[in-house]
Amino acid sequence: MINRPRRLRANPLIRGMVRETRVSADSLIYPIFFEEGTDIKAEISAMEGQYRYSPDRAKEVIDQCLQHGVNKVLLFGIPKEKDEKGSQAYAENGVVQQAVRAIKEEYGDQIYVITDVCMCEYTSHGHCGILCGHDVDNDETLKYLAATAVSHAAAGADMVAPSDMMDGRIAAIRAGLDENSFKNVPIMSYAVKYASKFYGPFREAAGSAPSFGDRKTYQMDFHNIKEGIKEAIIDEEEGADILMVKPALSYLDVIRELSYETNLPIATYSVSGEYAMIKNAGKAGLVDEYGIMCETAVSMYRAGADIIMTYYAMEIADAIKRGDIG
Ligand code: PBG
Repeated sequence: MINRPRRLRANPLIRGMVRETRVSADSLIYPIFFEEGTDIKAEISAMEGQYRYSPDRAKEVIDQCLQHGVNKVLLFGIPKEKDEKGSQAYAENGVVQQAVRAIKEEYGDQIYVITDVCMCEYTSHGHCGILCGHDVDNDETLKYLAATAVSHAAAGADMVAPSDMMDGRIAAIRAGLDENSFKNVPIMSYAVKYASKFYGPFREAAGSAPSFGDRKTYQMDFHNIKEGIKEAIIDEEEGADILMVKPALSYLDVIRELSYETNLPIATYSVSGEYAMIKNAGKAGLVDEYGIMCETAVSMYRAGADIIMTYYAMEIADAIKRGDIG
């Protein structure tokens, strides 16, 4: 026998030497929900182990992240009042703006703060933009998105991440940031975002399910991959700095394909439904939660992702430290 692949699997040292995928906590981003109010830390029932915090309790969760070696976070906001035009999304004292300021005052450059730019958590109808009848008005929405991104940058956000899927939003946000002296604030585009049932637990957490219809006129049809590459290339041309594929697990082929098509860093978001499935299957004793978490995280990197957003960020960082993956 000439070929004996098992020679290179004989022990941990040689397996470590020939390992093809290296992972690092530097590339992990932890999503956090901030709810308007004070003294809140409320567990999200659909996402055991995840909480909604009020901005005054940001320190608890940020300290926890830093202890685990995770120093990038992605912030979402849940306002007290929602209205037709989502005005709390771009309010100077909106909940995300408050949270960013609180974190930046306390930690400065110790933590990298990214904000989700969207309207669905802020609109009374739960859609990701301004309505015209029952349709989301693409071009009208752009100025609100740009204003939201600018208000996040003004509060001190290091990076903005638009997740709305309107056409032309990267160009609109880039122009807004540049005009307001934020030309060095990068944009991580949720470029390839599918209309997905995997967002279910998030919508419960953020109270952002659309009150009528669905998001299929702006988020992508999950049958399509070429369309995803098209979306990503458009966003790159409009000035995106990082491209995201979302969700992660059912879209590893899209991550791989995109890695051939772009020289930008690729991020992927392992979303709430992915977390909830692993968590609950583990709790039910059906699978080994820790092992599945490790294996799925590595699969995202192996597919070609450079950056991963995940509710398991701290546990994955620990797994890397322990040498279980990495
Ligand atoms: C907002 C947004 C959503 C998610 C991230 N940003 C929900 C949606 O599009 O309905 C989902 C994240 C998750 O499921 O963890 N547009």
